Amino acid sequence: MTTLMTQVDIFSPEFRRDPYPTYRLLRDEMPVYPSTSEKGLEMWLVTRYDDALTLLKDDRLIKNRMSLLPPEMVAALDIPDVVKPMMRNMLDLDAPDHTRLRALVHKAFTPALVERMRQQTQTIADELLDAVAARRSMNLMDDFAFPLPMTVISNILGIPAADRDRFRQWSNDIIDRELDDDMEAVVPIMSAFFGYLDVLFEARRRQPQPDLITALVEAEEAGDKLSQDELYAMVMLLIIAGHETTVNLIGNGTLALLCHPDQMALLRQNPGLARGAVEEMLRYDSPVQVATERYAREEMVFAGQHINQGDLMLAALGSANRDPQRFTDPDRFDITREDNRHLSFGQGIHYCIGAPLARMEAAIAFNTLLRRLPGLRLAVAPDELTYRPNMFLRGLTRLPVEW
Ligand code: HEM
Repeated sequence: MTTLMTQVDIFSPEFRRDPYPTYRLLRDEMPVYPSTSEKGLEMWLVTRYDDALTLLKDDRLIKNRMSLLPPEMVAALDIPDVVKPMMRNMLDLDAPDHTRLRALVHKAFTPALVERMRQQTQTIADELLDAVAARRSMNLMDDFAFPLPMTVISNILGIPAADRDRFRQWSNDIIDRELDDDMEAVVPIMSAFFGYLDVLFEARRRQPQPDLITALVEAEEAGDKLSQDELYAMVMLLIIAGHETTVNLIGNGTLALLCHPDQMALLRQNPGLARGAVEEMLRYDSPVQVATERYAREEMVFAGQHINQGDLMLAALGSANRDPQRFTDPDRFDITREDNRHLSFGQGIHYCIGAPLARMEAAIAFNTLLRRLPGLRLAVAPDELTYRPNMFLRGLTRLPVEW
C-alpha cells in the first residue's frame, strides 16, 4: 500500500477547524484513504467528487450492516433495547424497507408543503430578529440559526413550541456522539426522547390534528405500512435531520458572507441572488461534511482500491465539493457561480428528502438577516471560532455577531 507524504489526522482539532487543506492532500495523494479512529474503528474516506458520487449510487454498498451478519450473530450483539427502534430509520435501511418508509413521508415533503411554509418561515425569521434587534449583538447560532429550522420542522410535525428546547439537547447529545462510541451512552437520551414521543403519539391518537405526526400515527395503526419502532425512528430522524443540518447551513453560510464582504454586499443589493448564494454556501462549507455509513456488501475494487466485504466506506462530501476536477477555482466563494452541482444533499436513493425545504428556509434566513441588520459583522476574530466535535456535520459552536 502507498503511504502519504504528510501525516494526516482526520480526528484532530486542527482538521476540525479547517479540513480543506487535508482534503486537498488526500484527493491528490490517496483518494480512497484508510483511517482508524482512536477506538480502533476502521474506515475508508473517499474524497474525490467522481468517486464520492459513484459511492453514493453504488449498489454494492449497503446501509444496514446487520444484513451482512448471520442471524445468530445479530442476536448475540448486545444492543440495548431502547436503541433498537432507531435502527429502523430509513437512512440506515436498504430496499425494500427503505423504499416503503421513504414513500410514506416523501409525499408530505412536496413543493406544495414548501410553499405553505414559506410565509410562516418569513414570519419566524422576522420575529427572531425583532427579539434581538435592540440588543445590537447575538450569538447567531442560538438566537437565529437554531430556532428557525427547529420551529419550521416542529410545526410540520406538530410538536408544541414549549418543548423545542428539550429536543435540541437530546438531538445534540445523539448527534455529537463519536462514530465508535459505545451505544450505552445514548440509552438515557433515547429513553427520554421516546418517553416524550409516547405522550405525543397518544395525544394524537385521541385527538388527531392536521400535522405529520397524526398522519404517521394513523399509518402505524393501519398495520402494514409502519411498525411501532419505525414510527419512533421516523419522527426522530425527521426532527434531527430537519434541523441539525439547516442550523449549520445558516451558521456556515453567514460566516462565509462575513468573511467575504464583497459577496455579502452583492447579496444585500440583489436579494434575487439568494437561490444561487445558498447553493454556493452548501458547496463551499458543507453542513454535512461526510455522508452516513455505507458497508461493502461484497469484496470489491473501488477506485482502484481493494475493499473487503463489510468494510465501512464514507463519502467526504465537503471534499468532493472542493474538487478542482469538478469545480473551477473551488476554494473561491462566489455566490454567482454557475454549474454548481454540489453533493451536499447526497445522491442516489438516500438523496435528502428535505432539500427543497432547507433551500427555502436558508434563502429567507439570509435575505432577512441582510435586510434587517445592515451593519452585520463578526463580534470576535475568526480564529476564535470553534466547531462542534462531529465527524459528519460541520457546525459552529457559537457565532457571535453585532450590528
Ligand atoms: C441544509 C440542510 C440539509 C442538508 C445539508 C441535508 C443533507 C442530507 C444528506 C447529505 C443526506 C443523505 C445522507 C446519506 O446518503 O448518507 C440527507 C438525507 C436525509 N435528509 Fe437531509 N439535509 C438537510 C435538511 C433536511 C431537512 C430540512 C429534512 C427534513 C425535513 C431532512 C431530512 C432528510 C431525510 C429524512 C434523509 C434520509 C433520506 C433517505 O434515507 O432516503 N434533511 N440529508
